[in-house]
Amino acid sequence: MPEQKGARQERVTDDRRFALRSLLFVPGDADKKIDKALDTPADVVILDLEDAVAPSAKRAARLLACGVLRGDRRKPVAIRINAVDTPWYLEDLGAIGGLRPDIVMLPKCEAAADIKRLCDQLSVLEAAASVPVGDIAILPLVTETAAALRNTDYRSVSERLCALGFAGEDLSADLGVEARDSLGMNPLLEQARRAVAMAAAAADVPAIDTPFPDPHATAALAREAGDAARLGFAGKMCIHPGQIDAVHAAFQPSEATLQWARGVVRALAQSAQNGVTLLDGKMIDRAHLRLAERYLRHEAPEKAQ
Ligand code: COA
Ligand code: MG
Repeated sequence: MPEQKGARQERVTDDRRFALRSLLFVPGDADKKIDKALDTPADVVILDLEDAVAPSAKRAARLLACGVLRGDRRKPVAIRINAVDTPWYLEDLGAIGGLRPDIVMLPKCEAAADIKRLCDQLSVLEAAASVPVGDIAILPLVTETAAALRNTDYRSVSERLCALGFAGEDLSADLGVEARDSLGMNPLLEQARRAVAMAAAAADVPAIDTPFPDPHATAALAREAGDAARLGFAGKMCIHPGQIDAVHAAFQPSEATLQWARGVVRALAQSAQNGVTLLDGKMIDRAHLRLAERYLRHEAPEKAQ
């Protein structure tokens, strides 16, 4: 069911509202870490109510998350709710839906229908709380089960969709393979990662890469983040504040790339009547202009906040 027209008009969130290079996870029941996370340079802090929180602590984590949403956020806050097939999904949504989290992260998302359902539920909660309907963005993790990989078509699913997330750890458990070994990421995970890059481009939203689980292996993290950047990913989830700098560096286009992009914009503006020209001896046209504009959007991500 398409989102109602009024909701579209009122909606203020889009993928340019927050930079999405680094999204730092913090367990929803870890109050000191939450405080610390909000003071890091991460673009977004994700309060996790799902896998990082034991069943016995779900309620406490939910209450703590509500407190954060009511308080001084200091930066965009995402809430990772529990999956739709758990007893906690509706309780999480009911608690946070009227408190305007910047993003709801949906784990174990298996198809566009999961997003549509969440979108409608959020609309009801927003309306009930008299806050703008459509304000909360949705970031689904779309590769956490083998079943989710059968259909990654998220085109036009909802105006709330702000990105697609590739998450490898649950998928590796589902497939019965190690996520990474000395050769790098498992080929099946790599295949899912590429599928997310394609699906995100088709849906016209950024793609976000899986967290790297070793907080101290900075060189390996930088390699993995660099690979994601080459696949067109916009950012990476983090699990530790020490990962943020390497992730920002990986998703920042190089000065040479930015110079090329400015050159493309300039050259095509100067030859406005011709759609095609040469830059440094190579043909450039509208396709190169679109790529250049993408790079230039990365130039100062903080401006997007
Ligand atoms: N956010 C904010 N602060 C964090 C943090 C995080 N994700 N991870 C660690 N820190 C803090 C620690 O509390 C510690 O603070 P202190 O010096 O004031 O005591 C400091 O950074 C150093 O932490 P360190 O000792 O290196 O790590 P740790 O052993 O305490 O924690 C993890 C390791 C993996 C348990 C922790 O990083 C973590 O909880 N990460 C998030 C896990 C998560 O949410 N996973 C779900 C999605 S995959
Ligand atoms: Mg998980």
